[in-house]
Amino acid sequence: MTPLQNSEARYGTLAMALHWLMALLLSALVVLGLYMTKLPDVGFDTWKIGLILYHKQLGILALMLVALRIVWRVGSVLPHLPETLPDWQKVAARFVHLCFYALMLALPVTGWLMSSATGIPVSVFGLFTLPDLVPYDDHLFHALVDAHRYLGYALIVCMVAHIGAALRHHFLLHDGTLNRMLPGSRATPTMHRSPAVRNQPSAPAPRRSRCSQPPRPR
Ligand code: HEM
Ligand code: HEM
Repeated sequence: MTPLQNSEARYGTLAMALHWLMALLLSALVVLGLYMTKLPDVGFDTWKIGLILYHKQLGILALMLVALRIVWRVGSVLPHLPETLPDWQKVAARFVHLCFYALMLALPVTGWLMSSATGIPVSVFGLFTLPDLVPYDDHLFHALVDAHRYLGYALIVCMVAHIGAALRHHFLLHDGTLNRMLPGSRATPTMHRSPAVRNQPSAPAPRRSRCSQPPRPR
């Protein structure tokens, strides 16, 4: 079973749960956001208003989850990237992860600011209402709508780059990167050898005769 905590070789259960839950939630928020803003503003359109309310509540849920994720991330070991990865790709991967964290914070905060600036408070699943962050200001509202939109586009660009890289590693490079983020599967041994072990000469590969058996799954 995959342990709860991260190790140098792979992500733990909690990091994986947060990763996949947020991947689903953010994808849903982007699709919902793009769809609802395309709907025409015709009078009192309850369908559109209902979708905006769902979007706001799910967006605040994303803010709560990212806060939890940051706390967990700061207090956990960060799994190593594959040794075979060129340095520029390691930097690019970590940069995209950093952009994700910035966007996962900036999107809900601009959304909350936007709602405050237009004078419509944000209700959290009918349980309580968030305080307004700024007073009513129509000019600020329009600037925040633009900022929220461009941050949403930046998130889409990061998603495409990140998912493309994950699939490339899995299907073309076969280096076990995706397995580190999947429950139950093993990370490849090259990912988590300690520096001491890495510097030792590797043992010669066993010769396989025609009658040798393939290794048994463990
Ligand atoms: C990670 C969280 C969020 C994501 C990924 C997200 C994403 C988006 C996207 C992609 C759009 C469409 C932008 C456009 O095409 O104009 C949008 C619109 C919108 N979002 Fe969010 N959003 C998030 C959180 C929030 C929050 C927390 C609120 C408010 C409390 C909010 C309020 C709105 C509103 C009111 C619109 C419509 C703006 C307009 O009138 O054009 N969003 N969001
Ligand atoms: C909205 C969608 C997604 C977001 C925001 C996201 C975000 C992140 C972040 C921030 C990390 C760094 C680890 C951490 O701090 O928790 C990460 C790692 C990772 N993600 Fe995603 N992710 C998304 C979707 C996906 C999808 C769809 C895949 C697979 C096709 C994927 C595969 C991975 C893998 C394999 C890693 C580990 C990379 C490493 O070795 O460090 N992610 N993701």
